[in-house]
Amino acid sequence: MLVNLNKILPRAYKMGYAVGAFNTSNLETTQAIIGAAEKLNSPVIIAVSEKAIQYAGIEALSQIIITLAQKISIPVAVHLDHGKTYELCRQCIKNGFTSVMIDASHLPFKENVRLTRQVIIYAHKHNVSVEAEIGRLAGIEDNIEVKTGDALYTDPDEARKFAMATGCDALAIAIGTSHGAYKFKGKPKLRIDILKQIAGQIKNPLVLHGASGVKAIWISRINRCGGDLEQAKGVPDDLIIQAVRNGISKINTDTDLRIAFTAGLREFLHENPTVFDPRKISGHAREMIQQVVADRIKIFGSADQG
Ligand code: G3H
Ligand code: 13P
Ligand code: ZN
Repeated sequence: MLVNLNKILPRAYKMGYAVGAFNTSNLETTQAIIGAAEKLNSPVIIAVSEKAIQYAGIEALSQIIITLAQKISIPVAVHLDHGKTYELCRQCIKNGFTSVMIDASHLPFKENVRLTRQVIIYAHKHNVSVEAEIGRLAGIEDNIEVKTGDALYTDPDEARKFAMATGCDALAIAIGTSHGAYKFKGKPKLRIDILKQIAGQIKNPLVLHGASGVKAIWISRINRCGGDLEQAKGVPDDLIIQAVRNGISKINTDTDLRIAFTAGLREFLHENPTVFDPRKISGHAREMIQQVVADRIKIFGSADQG
């Protein structure tokens, strides 16, 4: 069942769980996400980045996601991840997305508010929810590279002013995570104190980006079959659980799905040197992604909340 974030996140906050937003750019990943959510009876958010749109084409990709989402009874939001422009948000809404993120966090505060408002006015007319961002994550994401030194934790006062000025349906904040597979040099740490201050001041559902776990078991499976991801490190489960307990309602995961896909491909090809049927190869990778999505859903606490 296709819904926007307002049908998913306020309930998650009230009941004390978070809903996963999982990135896709193809059929198999979409099937894996929806398959895991359906099996665990969990609401889910399917996230599509600008690069995913460039890769797959917006018509083909949105049709795959929407077709699969409409077939099942659990709530599914189809969400643009890190939209940088009004035009891209508009294009996604025209293609049936139920939710968009306008990420103007790199702009000065006033500009961020202005662009976010512009998107909200258009989106709300179409019953589409809008996520915005305040603060900057370190790392690389869709056409955005923020060096670690330039990463800014969200200022709770700014977050409150921003939430009031925009009325966004969800707000992404920066509390120490970063995008990609190399999140921490030393011990993983999140600024739960900042999260508590923000959650204490605003009612808008809060979003954690860059939340992948980058589990050692998957990294060694990749490395055993010829990969080289030695220093990869993600957000441990206990920190994710703390973040949920303290007010995070939406958790973004992309890297973990990429890692599962890569592990699946590498292992399958290594163990089955005579197979060259893409359906068998991709089908195995799809199973690995589905396992990871299911694990994440259990950690977020959204199983049986569909
Ligand atoms: O937050 C960013 C997502 O991981 C999207 O990554 O731009 O490479 O599709 P991408
Ligand atoms: P990860 O790179 O930690 O999976 O984060 C993904 C993300 O935030 C997508 O918006
Ligand atoms: Zn992100």
